Amino acid sequence: MYDTAEQTAQDHLLHPDLDERGRQVFAKHLRQFVFGPARAAAQGAFAQRVAPALAKESPQAAGDRRRVREALLREPEYQFFSDLHRVSQELIWNSTADSVEREAPRLREQFLALRDPQGSLRLDPQLQVPEYLRRMDTHCMPGSYYTEWTADDLSNGALYDRGGFLYTPGAGPAGDGAGRTSLEFLRTHVPGYTPKRMLDLGCGTASPLLAWAREFPQTEIHGIDIGAPLLRYAHLRAEQQRVVLHLRQADAAATGYPDGHFDLVTSHIMFHETEADAIPPILAEAYRVLAPGGILLIVDLPDAGRIPDVFQQVVFDGDAFYNNEHFWMKMHDLDWPAQLQRAGLRPRASRSDSHPCRCTCPRPRSHRAAGAPAASGFSRPWRARPEESARCRT
Ligand SMILES: C[S@@+](CC[C@H](N)C(=O)[O-])C[C@H]1O[C@@H](n2cnc3c(N)ncnc32)[C@H](O)[C@@H]1O
Repeated sequence: MYDTAEQTAQDHLLHPDLDERGRQVFAKHLRQFVFGPARAAAQGAFAQRVAPALAKESPQAAGDRRRVREALLREPEYQFFSDLHRVSQELIWNSTADSVEREAPRLREQFLALRDPQGSLRLDPQLQVPEYLRRMDTHCMPGSYYTEWTADDLSNGALYDRGGFLYTPGAGPAGDGAGRTSLEFLRTHVPGYTPKRMLDLGCGTASPLLAWAREFPQTEIHGIDIGAPLLRYAHLRAEQQRVVLHLRQADAAATGYPDGHFDLVTSHIMFHETEADAIPPILAEAYRVLAPGGILLIVDLPDAGRIPDVFQQVVFDGDAFYNNEHFWMKMHDLDWPAQLQRAGLRPRASRSDSHPCRCTCPRPRSHRAAGAPAASGFSRPWRARPEESARCRT
């Protein structure tokens, strides 16, 4: 089967055989069909039937994404699209699991054979995985981020890395699109800045961190995650690429690092998988480990309000219903500037375009007088209206 986008060989550690690869490429293309022609058909039903019917009812109903979704659920084209959304996702994991099961012993052997690593890996077998992550297999990935099928297991790291590429090929051949986005955001908003010591929250298999390590070879780079199999995979991959990463198994709400230890804390597509109650403790922890003047940089999903088209908002919500992304929809409605300010951080800039889209870069905490309320920040839609562009230049 002809494949137009493939993962770079050295960036993933699985070697799917020809049959496995064929099934994986099929699953990837099925997903592209779902979010191409199948979505277009659902959009046609929206434009021809749903939107006019709701507009007759009231302008509010026509603009309310929950009402639009209710109406779409009765449309065969939307039923087909949303059903295939789920099926294609399951197929991605199932086809990848074939390679993982066959290759897991080889990866484990390579991991155990690592000698004199340049970076480090600290696992905590006593760590309590937060309940909200244990409630279901996030984005339908069997075993989610933390299940270990054997001792010293890397399986779910391999599963996430390969399956994640298949369902978001837009993240690029190295799967580091979120990392390249945060780097670009930093260059734009804090030009010339080089972090001395950084921490990535929810680093997963460290794809974003590898991009950061290439850009800033002198920076001491740390990453934490709750998932031991992902961290083992990340450690093996980093060592094989001769990249120095310090990885630790920890909850982002309790990283175990000293106060003020980092001048930069990042997070890539982690927050949409937490829960509203978990966000304040994680932001408080980020604030605690940041040195005065430090920067927090978050890449995640956009607010629903920033997606101008109500049909696209409904499509975007789909992962909450068909992909075990239970916090995804609530995250769209969260008031991020308020959340950051409550943690003592000042939102300095944010932008929103296509996935991944949220970057927030708070102002140094030393700029806030002790005890004073944080000044309101601003946020900038990517297609800014003129007055908002002007505010961005101040
Ligand atoms: C969608 S993955 C993103 C992984 C990586 N940042 C990337 O961009 O490839 C979300 C990651 O956040 C981790 N995670 C979620 N909640 C966490 C928490 N409370 N503490 C630490 N890690 C967490 C998950 O284990 C998972 O690896």
